[in-house]
Order: sequence, then structure tokens, then C-alpha cells
Amino acid sequence: MSAVVPQPVVARLTRAAIFLVVRINPGKDSENAVRGLCALLSALLRAVGFRDPEARLSCVMALGSDAWDRLFGDPRPKYLHPFREIHGVHHAVSTPGDILFHIRSVRMDLCFELASQIMSRLGKAVTAIDEVHGFKYFDDRDLLGFVDGTENPSDQDAVDATTIGQEDPAFAGGSYVITQKYLHDLQRWNAISTSEQENIIGRHKLSDIEQDDAAKAPYAHNVLTTVVEDGEQLEIVRDNMPFGEIGKGEFGTYFIGYARSPHRIEQMLENMFVGRPPGNYDRLLDVSRAVTGALFFVPSATFLDDVSP
Ligand code: HEM
Repeated sequence: MSAVVPQPVVARLTRAAIFLVVRINPGKDSENAVRGLCALLSALLRAVGFRDPEARLSCVMALGSDAWDRLFGDPRPKYLHPFREIHGVHHAVSTPGDILFHIRSVRMDLCFELASQIMSRLGKAVTAIDEVHGFKYFDDRDLLGFVDGTENPSDQDAVDATTIGQEDPAFAGGSYVITQKYLHDLQRWNAISTSEQENIIGRHKLSDIEQDDAAKAPYAHNVLTTVVEDGEQLEIVRDNMPFGEIGKGEFGTYFIGYARSPHRIEQMLENMFVGRPPGNYDRLLDVSRAVTGALFFVPSATFLDDVSP
């Protein structure tokens, strides 16, 4: 039996990305069209990506819990469920979404072309419900001015953090992904002193060097998102992107986190929104509001290639 090939979850971070979330319209025809796209996706990606291989075009296609049941039924990925809302000091909303396309490249035109090709294949089978075009801001900073992505695991560590193995053999090579679209109140953020902003993130703003552990505030973002279980740090791979619309006064961060189990990302969210201990929440949330929240399963590329319409 040949090895299972994962989708490019651990693709290197890029300068541009499109996050496209769609709903599958009612009817068997819609479901057949989506299944057809699963098998065609790698060919579309090859065709568009070949026009500039240096631009590292990649696409991850992921499916929500209800969509999985409609398209494939049993067996289903062990930990797939709809995103669980969190009512803590702040509110993590759960919003609908059947399919996520996470398209990355150093060139936005290639992302745009691939997204257009995908959507024209899907035609009336789907309705787009959220579309974000993300860009890298200066030296990989978010719109809050901090470098975002530094502590991501790399190489084999990234693969180990994100790839399902023997815990769910039927879905080995797959992953889970959680997305949340955050809108920032930049006026409020910019009114906070740089040293307090650094306490909120747990890193120095200009140099991007981590604060000493002893100097970190208990509510620092990098304290609350560190999850250790049975002596092991449970890591995730993030590829957040800034986005916005100046005319609307909209400044945001699209959070995207991949992991081999949703649990570790959900634990981070719990720590951020409820607090660890409860009440010791992430102060980023005083200036950043989550307006979407969704959980998807990322089947392996081998699985997608083998889907029959
Ligand atoms: C680290 C920004 C949401 C998980 C960081 C860092 C920044 C940042 C600037 C430090 C640099 C780095 O290591 O990347 C943001 C912003 C967010 C956001 C602006 C949304 C408004 C989230 C969410 C999660 C998360 C929702 C998880 C559910 C992490 C993790 C780290 C991190 C695991 C690395 C911590 C470490 O090991 O040092 N984030 N983040 N972030 N963030 Fe976020």
C-alpha cells in the first residue's frame, strides 16, 4: 500500500492568503459537485501553481462536521464536531461553514486565480459565506504591530503537531483546523503603552524577543496559549494573516491554527476567553473581537484524490 500524503498544512508561511468559507447548497447535485471538486483539486492546483512554481501556491481544503456527514457519512474523523462556543469573560462565537479553502502563495494573483477556478467548478453547488484576503504586514507583523508566527514549530515538529497518526488510523495523514476572524479596536490598542502591550503579548515589540518567564504577566498571550499535558507541550501550527478595509475602519487578524486534535486549540481558547485560572483571561480580547469561529477536518490529499463523485 502506498503512503498517505497529507495536504500542505505545514506549507511555509507566505506573503498572501485567501481564506474562503462556503456553504454547500441543498440537494444531491450540490453534494456530487463538491465530491467532484475533491478529486479535481490537485489538478487545479498543479495547473495554476505551474505558472510560477517559485510562488509556492498551496491549498488546503477542509470540511465542517455537518458537511462531512452529508458527503461521506461513516466512518467519520474521531474528533470532528462543530466549533464549540465559549462564554467566558469574552465570547468566542460559533459560525456556520461547510468547507474552508486556505490558499497561500507569495503572489496574491495566484491565490485569486485558484480561488476563482475552484468557485467556477463548484458553481451553484455552494454559496460563499466568508472571504478574507490576507496580507503580510511589514516584517510578518499583525496590525497590532507584533511579529506573529515566531514560535511556530518547524520541520518534523510541525508535522508531529498537526498530522493524525495511530490515534485514528482510518484518518491518518489528516489534521484539524480552527479559524476565527478577529476585528481589532486599534484606537483602543494604540492608547495602551508599548510596555503594557508587551506584557499582553509576552514579547518585546520591536525586537520580537520573548520576555523572561519571570517577567511575564500571568495573562500574557504566550503564557495562556502554552498547554502542557503529561509533561509534553501541545503545539499547533498557526498562519495568521492581517486583513482589513480602511474605508470601513476594519482592521483584523484572521487566526488559523492546525493541530492533530482540536482539543489542544480548544484548551488554548478556553484559557484565553475564560482564563487560567478563570478570570485571568487574555487582554488581547479587550481590543480584539472574534466575529467568526469554525472547526474543520482536513482529510489527507490521498483521501481527496480518491473521492468519487
Ligand atoms: C503567539 C498574536 C490569537 C495561539 C502569538 C504571538 C503573537 C500572537 C503576536 C507571538 C509571536 C508568535 O510566537 O507567533 C495573536 C493575535 C491573535 C491571536 C493578534 C488574534 C487576535 C490566537 C489564538 C490562539 C493563539 C486564538 C489559539 C487558540 C498562539 C500560540 C502562540 C501564539 C500557541 C505561541 C506561544 C508560545 O509558545 O510562545 N500570537 N494571536 N493565538 N499564539 Fe496568538
